[in-house]
Amino acid sequence: MSKLAIFGGEPIRKKPFQYLPDYDEKEEKAVMDVFRTRVLSGFHKSYRTGGPKVMEFEDKFSKYHNMNYAVAFNSGTAALHAGLVALGVTKGDEVIVPSYTFTATASSVLMCNAIPIFCDVNKDTFNVNTENIRSLITKKTKAIIPVHLVGNPCDMGPIIEIANEYNIKILEDCAQSPGAKYKGKLVGTIGDIGAFSFVETKNMVTGEGGMIITNNSDYNDICRLVRSHGEILVSGGRSYLSKILGWNYRMTEFEAAIGIEQLKKLESLNKYRILNTQYLDKGINFDGISKLKIPNQSYSVAHVCPLLFDENKVGVTRDVFLKALNAEGIEADKGYPHPLYMNPIFLNNDEGKYYKGMNPIAEDLCSKSAIWIRKIMYPNNFEDMQDIINGFTKVMENVDSLKSLEN
Ligand SMILES: Cc1ncc(COP(=O)(O)O)c(C=O)c1O
Repeated sequence: MSKLAIFGGEPIRKKPFQYLPDYDEKEEKAVMDVFRTRVLSGFHKSYRTGGPKVMEFEDKFSKYHNMNYAVAFNSGTAALHAGLVALGVTKGDEVIVPSYTFTATASSVLMCNAIPIFCDVNKDTFNVNTENIRSLITKKTKAIIPVHLVGNPCDMGPIIEIANEYNIKILEDCAQSPGAKYKGKLVGTIGDIGAFSFVETKNMVTGEGGMIITNNSDYNDICRLVRSHGEILVSGGRSYLSKILGWNYRMTEFEAAIGIEQLKKLESLNKYRILNTQYLDKGINFDGISKLKIPNQSYSVAHVCPLLFDENKVGVTRDVFLKALNAEGIEADKGYPHPLYMNPIFLNNDEGKYYKGMNPIAEDLCSKSAIWIRKIMYPNNFEDMQDIINGFTKVMENVDSLKSLEN
C-alpha cells in the first residue's frame, strides 16, 4: 500500500484536470461570420425578435424539442425569471422549489416578488421529492419548479398529477439537462415552460445564454416583453411604450451563432459526459460509495458524475475523504455546500425565520453525503477517468489511516 499524499506520499496525479468548452472550427466560423455581418445584436431593428442568428437559434431549438415557441435570453436565470412572469407569478405568490439546486432556481422567484417554498429532495436521485410537494401547497401556490439536476430527469408523472389537481403551473429548470428524457419525452417539453442555461460549464454552451420553450403563445409573447423592457410593438418602428416591467435579457448574435452549432451536436456533447461517467461507474465500486438512481425509463445526460457517500460504511467523514482525494490530485467536491434556504437572501425574511432542519435530506447531502465529480467534460478522457478511479481506490485502501484526521 502506498502512502497517501495527504501524509506526504506520492500523489496519484500531478497535472490538473482541464475544462475546455467543447467547440471547434464550426463555432469559430459561425462567430467570424457574425463578426463580418456587423450585426452584433439586431434587437434595435427588431425589438421583438432580435437578430437573424437569434431567430434561427430559437427556431432550431423549438424544432429540436418539437415545441411551438422558443425565446432566447442572455442567461438561464433570465429565462427562469421571464418564464415565471409568463406563468403569472407575482407579489405574494408561492412557488415550490427544491432546496438542493443552484441559487437562481429560487432567486428567480424573488425577482417576481414571490416566495420560494423549499421542498426536500430524494437522497438517491438528488431531485425533488414528489411526495413532499403536496404538503407544501397552499392557496397561494402558483407554480412549481422541478429541477432536472446533474443531468437526471425528475419523476415528472406525480408532479403533473399534482399540478393538474391544484391548477399549479410547472416551470422545468433544465439548466443541467438539455437532451435528457423522461419516459421518452425531452425535458422542458413536459411542463408549461422549460428553461435552459448555456453558461460555459453546461452540456451545451454559448458563453452566457439561456432559452425557454413552450407551446403557449401568450407565454411566448410575455417572455419576449420581459426580454426587452416590456416594450410593445407598433407598426413602423419602436414604440418606447413599456407595457409591463421588463429587463434587458437579450442574447447577442455571437452567442446565438455558437448555440446553433452546439445544438447540432448536443447528442454527441452529452455522449462525451455519459461515456466518461459510465467508465467511472465501472471503476468506483466500493462499499459505502454508491451511484444515484436513474428513474425507470429516463435518459440522463450526465452533467456531472454524482456519488453518495456513507460515512458509517466507509469509516471516515466525506470531508476528510475528499481532503485525502484532493491531495492525490483528484478533483471531486461536495457539490452544493448548503441547502438554498441557508443563503442570507432567504434567511433575511420578514418573520425572521431560521430554516435549519427544514429539509433533512438536502442538509444531509450538503453536509455529509454528496460527492460531485465534475471533470467528466471535454477534454478529459478515459485516462483521466482512470486517474480518478485510482485515486478513489488508493484512498479507500488506506482509509483507516485517515481516522487520525477526524476531530
Ligand atoms: C439548476 C440551475 N438553474 C439555473 C441556472 C442558472 O443559469 P445561468 O448561470 O445561465 O444564469 C443554473 C446554472 O448556472 C443551474 O445549474
